[in-house]
Amino acid sequence: MQYRTIIEPFRIHSVEAIDFPDEAARRAALERAGYNLFMLHADEVIIDLLTDSGTGAMSAQQWAGVMVGDESYAGSRSYYKFRDVVRELTGFSQVIPTHQGRAAEHILFAVMVDEGQVVPNNTHFDTTRANVEYRGAEARDVVIEEGTDPDALHPFKGNMDVEALEETIREVGSERIPFVMVTVTNNSGGGQPVSMANLRAVREVCDRHGIPFFLDACRFAENAWFIKLREDGYADRSPRQIAEEMFSLADGCTMSAKKDGLSNIGGFLALNDPEVASQCRNLLILTEGFPTYGGLAGYDLEAIARGLEEVTDPDYLRYRIRSTEYLAEKVNQAGVPIVRPPGGHAVYLNAAKLLPQIPPHQYPAQALSVELYRQGGVRGVEIGSVMFGKPRPDGTEEPAPMELVRLAIPRRTYTQSHIDYVAEVIIDVATRAEDMRGYRIVRQGPWLRHFTARFEPL
Ligand code: F0G
Repeated sequence: MQYRTIIEPFRIHSVEAIDFPDEAARRAALERAGYNLFMLHADEVIIDLLTDSGTGAMSAQQWAGVMVGDESYAGSRSYYKFRDVVRELTGFSQVIPTHQGRAAEHILFAVMVDEGQVVPNNTHFDTTRANVEYRGAEARDVVIEEGTDPDALHPFKGNMDVEALEETIREVGSERIPFVMVTVTNNSGGGQPVSMANLRAVREVCDRHGIPFFLDACRFAENAWFIKLREDGYADRSPRQIAEEMFSLADGCTMSAKKDGLSNIGGFLALNDPEVASQCRNLLILTEGFPTYGGLAGYDLEAIARGLEEVTDPDYLRYRIRSTEYLAEKVNQAGVPIVRPPGGHAVYLNAAKLLPQIPPHQYPAQALSVELYRQGGVRGVEIGSVMFGKPRPDGTEEPAPMELVRLAIPRRTYTQSHIDYVAEVIIDVATRAEDMRGYRIVRQGPWLRHFTARFEPL
């Protein structure tokens, strides 16, 4: 390509106004919210990078699909369309719709995971971890060493440490491992990709020990694009072909259609084992709905089916991955420490490095995320010791391996000027890093505390 400017590979067909609360309003909002950005009202936020989940813009084709959704309770035409699209993409014969990714996790784990078992994953996402632990099992992260070092430059930092996986199997025994899971891309580890070679190696270990292998496939298309860019032998393959090959190595997947399904809600569980699928469907009826809608409207199924086909478009993925990298480059060139190389869906600021004066138990990444909101109305999310700190029996906490602020970029939603503004805010906040102080938690819940905890500045 002759010119360097990223152009969004779409025109904007419908717009949504942004609110501009002033600094006094933002301070008041923070106090009311107990310094927990999940507790803000969305119209108190200027640029919302809390998540890339369900926040993307649907295409005209997807909205057209909404109009032809079949709302039949049983046997909806939209279900069969959805099922066929998922089957063709993943190759898995059993396709179970759910209202979002964690519902697929909950159902799969309820059927397959028992107390005392161990589930290895490159890095569990928070809901995945919580769903494993809720079953009384252990969620064990076995990502490669580079995957927990923000500065280690490795093309596939999401890779599973295959030796550590073997060791886990030896230690625990294959009968206590219901399945191995690999998250593509590795969200909690910085949105980092997993190579095809690594997926193949995990498959081989699983085969040798008779353990099923599942993908947490939320961002499968972004992962496929990284494989195309970085792995030998894939430059000439289409992202769709690469995605199909990734799925062909697994026995099943859980999926949140709110990410690479390009939809605002939805998910699915897909797998090959008809016996497990039948048990999952029984539970689905109890908790989500009849197996041909699984908690979704017929029109959602239409939107997801179209989204799953659009998301592997090379023009879309080139723009998507390049625009994330664009934000990363801007802030990194200004000296702000980030996880490198940047991930697919988000830029992760390294709060531990930017704020060395704030120890982990005073939550440096929480402090940084609050400051980005206070200064510029930009909402990100803490991925550090608030989210992953583990309470010890003596009342102290084992800190998370990294203290990050994730700025997740919704799909097809913000333009380059929005991203330029975000970069300006980050760089401005970073120049005042020395003045920042930590926080303490004054109230928290038993599960997933980061969603509801209240904080006080120290
Ligand atoms: N797995 C991964 C890797 C995820 O990133 C998410 C959600 C889920 C599972 C659960 O899917 O939200 O549809 O129930 N991640 C969002 C995020 C919430 O902000 O990263 P869900």
